[in-house]
Amino acid sequence: PDVPVIAIDGPSASGKGTVAQRVAERLGFHYLDSGALYRLVALAALRAGVAWDDEAGLERLAQELKVRFDAGRVWLGDEEVTDAIRSEEVSRGASSVAQWPAVREALLDRQRAFRQPPGLVADGRDMGSVVFPDARVKIFLTASPEVRAQRRYKQLMEKGMSANIQTLLQDIRARDARDSQRSAAPLQKCADASLLDTSDLTIDQAVEAVLKQYRASS
Ligand code: C5P
Repeated sequence: PDVPVIAIDGPSASGKGTVAQRVAERLGFHYLDSGALYRLVALAALRAGVAWDDEAGLERLAQELKVRFDAGRVWLGDEEVTDAIRSEEVSRGASSVAQWPAVREALLDRQRAFRQPPGLVADGRDMGSVVFPDARVKIFLTASPEVRAQRRYKQLMEKGMSANIQTLLQDIRARDARDSQRSAAPLQKCADASLLDTSDLTIDQAVEAVLKQYRASS
């Protein structure tokens, strides 16, 4: 409780990952990319041939996940999977595995362990509602589906990956629907979170808005 948490929740491709990382850098805080954990479970499931509806099998993978985060890179066991967990296949899989309460439960302690002095910036879907309900600052960061599809498109192009903007938009809409309609920790703005719509903001402006709220809170 005395280690402050800034919880940043919101839909995929809203820019919350970039914003959360920069806020963490500015404050010298730790950073938790909770979506990466769901992505890692999905990748592990693809590798092990565990089906998306096998809740017990996915729970076991989540419990036994051997992960390491370092300087923006991610390892699953000995293998670096920084790019592999960003593929569209893994994105869809992550949203499937995240529907299972047993999987979410299995990842709780792992997420809470990131709360270390001097503070933590956590990004995901349920940081403010479930994982860190006592967060100092709670932000629901979003942007229109069209803007998010554009941003994802640009990201993929920069990585030299191919993409189709209409497909990305469809995927974003489908993932939003799945994430907000599921019964376990659905994506929604909790009552004590403040809304930050970044459709017309630059990354720097969004970062400043979060920092301003944090300063006002402490
Ligand atoms: O944030 P990101 O797009 O990397 O998350 C991948 C998927 O993991 C999301 O579509 C969502 O279903 C799930 N997720 C979640 N709870 C979180 C973070 C991510 O359910 N805290």
